[in-house]
Amino acid sequence: MHPTPKIYVLHENDAWVEPLRAAFAGLGLPYAEWFLDQGVVDFSSAPPEGVFYNRMSASSHTRGHRYGPEYAAAVLAWLETHGRRVVNDGRALQLEISKIAQYAALAKHNIRVPRTVAAIGRRMIVDAARKFTGSFITKHNRAGKGLGVHLFHDVGALKHYVESDEFRDSIDGVTLIQEYIRAPELVITRVEFVGGKFLYAVRVDTTLGFELCPADVCEIGDAFCPAGEAAPTTPRFHIVKHFEHPIIERYRRFIADNGIGIAGIEFIMDRAGELYTFDVNTNTNYNSAAEAEARVYGMRAIAAYLGDELKKLSRAQSPELAIAG
Ligand SMILES: Nc1ncnc2c1ncn2[C@@H]1O[C@H](COP(=O)(O)OP(=O)(O)O)[C@@H](O)[C@H]1O
Ligand SMILES: [Mg+2]
Repeated sequence: MHPTPKIYVLHENDAWVEPLRAAFAGLGLPYAEWFLDQGVVDFSSAPPEGVFYNRMSASSHTRGHRYGPEYAAAVLAWLETHGRRVVNDGRALQLEISKIAQYAALAKHNIRVPRTVAAIGRRMIVDAARKFTGSFITKHNRAGKGLGVHLFHDVGALKHYVESDEFRDSIDGVTLIQEYIRAPELVITRVEFVGGKFLYAVRVDTTLGFELCPADVCEIGDAFCPAGEAAPTTPRFHIVKHFEHPIIERYRRFIADNGIGIAGIEFIMDRAGELYTFDVNTNTNYNSAAEAEARVYGMRAIAAYLGDELKKLSRAQSPELAIAG
């Protein structure tokens, strides 16, 4: 007897999976979790039957899981070799952990990205920045959570930073120097896709800085509001359900082409109305206050989608059930 197929969630952060567990419970869906910190992958064995949802995160090393992505890559290769249904496959993982890979893939779909130069080795960062005329930012190639994001207006200030104890290199040794896109309002937009389809767009107020993980556990508390200034009265995350823009169709094709079923893609618009895409999160999280206000729930959409995929799988495996049901 084979065990009944289930949904498997591959991840390395319990806090982010909590709302998904609640959504599975709400729909009565069978699932299991594979916590990918350390383990063994036996290529001669067969994986269980099921639908596998990869939620490995680029920032896993910040939670002590330095080799989570490498482990996930091995597991995904094993699952794919055995023809298992994987949502956010090995290709998606490659994009999750490298902004350079994201930008190359976005460019193939004629999606504009900010001008970016990669510097490998600490000493090269300053040289790379000399190629820019205006303000620029640094960021880590393997990031998430705004790792290594700093704004500079001249090379001297960057040199000072790179030579100081404050400097942190990207975990993969690749620092990006990127043109700073000056938006008329301090807002970025994140477009959420579930099951390859547009779910909603969320406008994120960036007044408080660059660490912009929408998960509630990452929210910056009120204590961080600059004293003396009026506290922002608008929520930092605001959902736009009926966001319409030609970029959505391009994103849709881009994710379909790159093994991505679930993702949040971020863009910023400059003063001229030009749109620049700068971040693809295959491991996406949702802001619960913004979702409660808009009455749309990302994790429920994910659970429902994975449930449908599981149903399709069960039908394919037992055609008599398909006839009956
Ligand atoms: N080129 C840019 N111009 C202006 N702001 C940017 C640019 N790139 C990133 N940012 C700001 O920094 C934040 C973090 O950068 P991002 O590329 O999304 O990295 P991460 O993967 O760490 O989320 C963004 O949400 C945005 O507010
Ligand atoms: Mg981001």
